[in-house]
Amino acid sequence: MDFNLSEEQIMIRDAARDFARTELLPGVIERDEKQQFPAEQIKKMGELGFLGMMVDPLYGGSGLDTVSYVLAMEEFSKIDASASVVMSVNNSLVCWGLETYGTEEQKQKYLVPLAKGEIIGAFCLSEPEAGSDATSQRTTAIDKGDYYLLNGTKNWITNGNNASVYIVIAQTDVAKGHKGINAIIVEKGMPGFAVGNKENKLGIRGSDTHSLMFTDVKVPKENRIGEDGFGFKFAMKTLAGGRIGIAAQALGIASGAYELALKYSQERRTFGKEISQHQAIAFKLADMATSIEASRLLCMKAAWEKDQHLNYDLSGAMAKLYAADTAMNVTVEAVQIHGGYGFVKEYHVERLMRDAKITQIYEGTSEIQKIVISRSILS
Ligand code: CAA
Repeated sequence: MDFNLSEEQIMIRDAARDFARTELLPGVIERDEKQQFPAEQIKKMGELGFLGMMVDPLYGGSGLDTVSYVLAMEEFSKIDASASVVMSVNNSLVCWGLETYGTEEQKQKYLVPLAKGEIIGAFCLSEPEAGSDATSQRTTAIDKGDYYLLNGTKNWITNGNNASVYIVIAQTDVAKGHKGINAIIVEKGMPGFAVGNKENKLGIRGSDTHSLMFTDVKVPKENRIGEDGFGFKFAMKTLAGGRIGIAAQALGIASGAYELALKYSQERRTFGKEISQHQAIAFKLADMATSIEASRLLCMKAAWEKDQHLNYDLSGAMAKLYAADTAMNVTVEAVQIHGGYGFVKEYHVERLMRDAKITQIYEGTSEIQKIVISRSILS
């Protein structure tokens, strides 16, 4: 078993680390406070190839493996999880599905600019009454011959306002249940498509999360992804890969907070010694480092399985479940180690703690991961 990274993977990780420190760190506190989308930073990430990392260069991507994607996601998420979620959605939920199941025309028209980072995309599954229970779609895409008539509302959509291309999951034939669901590509600006208010969130406040409204939007038939009725499986397969990205985001949030806590504990002195020399703190650091390492190994296993074209549903769900819990626990401890300083914005750990929470919720709550894992081990 080889745990070494290749030279290329190390280069990607170091480039992402450098970018995070020089481009994401400045202004990250202000963007969080003002709920400001990191537009400039995302543009630069696109220019450097981070928005279409795994896409074939034939379609404008960087042609890298999933392990490199996890490494980059971890580095960006250590500093700015609002930027890394944009990258994760664009890579995993939008580009991957288009590259894997899209037609050549769809790839040329949508995937190429998305992979180059010229535009960004959004994945629209959640609804006011269908978040975890994804088969209960109320948004309808009625077959009208050469187009679908799209009506409904989507909630909690990452990149909701800044995206140009939206993959929308909708019910075409209620009688067929999940086999009557389709995934269709909607462009911003299509008549009848409106972006709702921005959510004022606990964490990842720089990312723009919106509801979307569709009223009699005419979507050409050629914008359907895959065969008629493939939409639910498309969503499940897409989310399975997306979970690796969010697991890596959680890993990055945890390791970012741990690194800050470690440094602080070696500088701050109480009772005549560095606080890291007190066993109460040293044991916390030991627990944090161990759970982060376990998360990293789970993320890498899932990424490796995806790169080997093996089934990664189980490993991706395990990685997300464990890394998200680790992010939550480690960031709470990082605030504790910082004491009063941890509670103020300048020390970054309070933001990481707020950002950590969403990793237990989006792209499938921790409870959903347990459904996926338990079904897999019991089947
Ligand atoms: N790959 C391929 N097919 C799959 C699959 C997978 N990973 N998972 C399920 N399917 C198929 C099943 O085989 C089944 O097909 P057949 O009937 O032909 O056998 C079909 O899909 C239905 O599957 P289930 O009966 O298992 O469906 P279910 O209703 O019991 O739900 C679930 C399964 C796992 C709970 C699913 O609903 C789920 O994943 N829910 C969570 C959705 C989610 O992650 N929401 C978050 C929104 S996206 C987001 O957060 C993005 C963002 O902006 C950051």
